[in-house]
Amino acid sequence: MINYQTLARQTLFNDFKHMSIMLGVGDSVYILDDRGRRYWFNIQNDMIRVKGLGIIDGARLIGQEDGSSLDIAGREFFIFRGGLIEQIDSVERGPQIITAKDAATILLHLDLKAGDRVLEAGVGSGALTIALLHSIAPSGKVFTIELREEFAKKARRNVERSGLEAMWELQFGDIKDYDLDEMVDAVALDMPDPWNALDNVTRFLRPGGRFAGYVPNANQVIDLMKGLRERGYKETRALENIQRFIEVHPGGVRPSYDTLGHTGYLVFGRRSTK
Ligand SMILES: C[S@@+](CC[C@H](N)C(=O)[O-])C[C@H]1O[C@@H](n2cnc3c(N)ncnc32)[C@H](O)[C@@H]1O
Repeated sequence: MINYQTLARQTLFNDFKHMSIMLGVGDSVYILDDRGRRYWFNIQNDMIRVKGLGIIDGARLIGQEDGSSLDIAGREFFIFRGGLIEQIDSVERGPQIITAKDAATILLHLDLKAGDRVLEAGVGSGALTIALLHSIAPSGKVFTIELREEFAKKARRNVERSGLEAMWELQFGDIKDYDLDEMVDAVALDMPDPWNALDNVTRFLRPGGRFAGYVPNANQVIDLMKGLRERGYKETRALENIQRFIEVHPGGVRPSYDTLGHTGYLVFGRRSTK
């Protein structure tokens, strides 16, 4: 006779067995210390120099389970595959980045999915670029236009660490007069005067396609909204994300003192055929 309870337990056990993710060559990983510091690197079957930690034998990591404990010189660390949120949080900073809370909102409002094509300006430190690439992988494309070559170096390093650079095309120039020889599903602008780029980017945004702009000041929201509405964009809306981290200690629970008061305003719209 079949014991359905045992069967259910075994099926559950087998499912759990298959949920293990093993680390392999090329994975972008970080080692976490007991203070929450992350040490990033890509796994190679070789000795790896990890900034802040020293030399690690990569062969020892291959086949380890994601989230495993590691003993390094008698101290316990944990190794994790890097996900989008850790990558955004730990980009090497140049210009002000778009934080995880705002990047997440932009991805949702742009309705991005595998295969989509996105036009972005500027690159800054590449934090938003990584988020865009993550959403359109493995078959889409992000075209990023950046005015200043010196910013792009850091951004390129950050994007390469994400392992998503195959879907990325970075060009230098001014988005206001940049030419693209195809249409895109979405446009994301994080630059001081996005309203001045609207005439140009609208030429490449397919009807029904989605626009996102990120600006730090309220007066910029007015200019951007006006620019979108004058060009027939619909579903225009602006918002600010307020997020508070909560500190949980044995002595009590309270909002973190480190929470950022203001990051920026997000402005959205959809291109109509008007
Ligand atoms: C605040 S940063 C972008 C930050 C980026 N979104 C991130 O998450 O790291 C603004 C960038 O826009 C670029 N920029 C400003 N005006 C531009 C233009 N007209 N065309 C292209 N890039 C421009 C700047 O050089 C700078 O790199």
